[in-house]
Amino acid sequence: MDGEIPLDQPHTSRVYDYFLDGKDNYEVDRKAAEEILKVWPNIRTAARVNRQFMHRSTRFLAESGVRQFLDIGTGIPTEPNLHQVAQAVTPEARVVYVDNDPVVLAYARALMTGTAAGSTTYIQGDVRDPAAILRSAELLEALDLSQPVGLSMIALLHFVEADIPAILSGFLDALAPGSYLVICAITPDFAPEQVLPAQEVYRVRRLPAQVRHYDEMVGWFAGLDLIDPGVVPPHRWRLGETSEFTEAFDAKVSCWCGVGRKP
Ligand SMILES: C[S@@+](CC[C@H](N)C(=O)[O-])C[C@H]1O[C@@H](n2cnc3c(N)ncnc32)[C@H](O)[C@@H]1O
Repeated sequence: MDGEIPLDQPHTSRVYDYFLDGKDNYEVDRKAAEEILKVWPNIRTAARVNRQFMHRSTRFLAESGVRQFLDIGTGIPTEPNLHQVAQAVTPEARVVYVDNDPVVLAYARALMTGTAAGSTTYIQGDVRDPAAILRSAELLEALDLSQPVGLSMIALLHFVEADIPAILSGFLDALAPGSYLVICAITPDFAPEQVLPAQEVYRVRRLPAQVRHYDEMVGWFAGLDLIDPGVVPPHRWRLGETSEFTEAFDAKVSCWCGVGRKP
């Protein structure tokens, strides 16, 4: 696999893998990651909290009756992966993973298999081109777009410097009523002194990076029914009444997340 992978440029997927203590990263990724850790020492906590939000939101969708999932910005496999969470609730759940990084797709195809009853499919695609993803033959074979789909973009949109509302409508307009949108993305709202220099570490390496404020992210759910508790830090999303978090912990995580349902 190494022959096909450029090693002189960090990849967001492998930098993230390093934060999650994975083994699928190279020297160039670790250098970028260490620079980010200097300005955002708790980013590993943020990565773990983000994964836990993926687990809870996927379980929530599966328990709400969603049987088809479209996960964009999948990342290098880290167990449990989204299909494992969904298929643990609904073995026949059908999951399509999309990432624009060929590294991710190579690992995903090698490592991720679903239940016999369900299906797990991988597509190389770019979230900025919803039409290309939605008309892909593999997607149309796996998903019935006349039925609800759980669309997740978790820890993805802070790597996208584009018109996010246009991208989201590109997907949501094609999805059936009862579909869900799940988002988690980095914000400078709690600790700009850590988040903005981290964004700069990506940009100087020619990796797109754009963090956003609360109001902008709330706007991404326009036209959807926002599921309780709304747009909140991911550790505050349906973790149970007994959990208590400090503002200092919100700053360590520095993300907003939300789940909306298409009426
Ligand atoms: C931080 S990882 C998130 C992985 C996983 N969703 C999670 O939350 O644990 C972000 C992923 O988004 C992918 N990505 C970045 N820009 C993308 C784009 N324009 N289209 C599709 N995927 C993209 C990267 O390759 C990377 O695998």
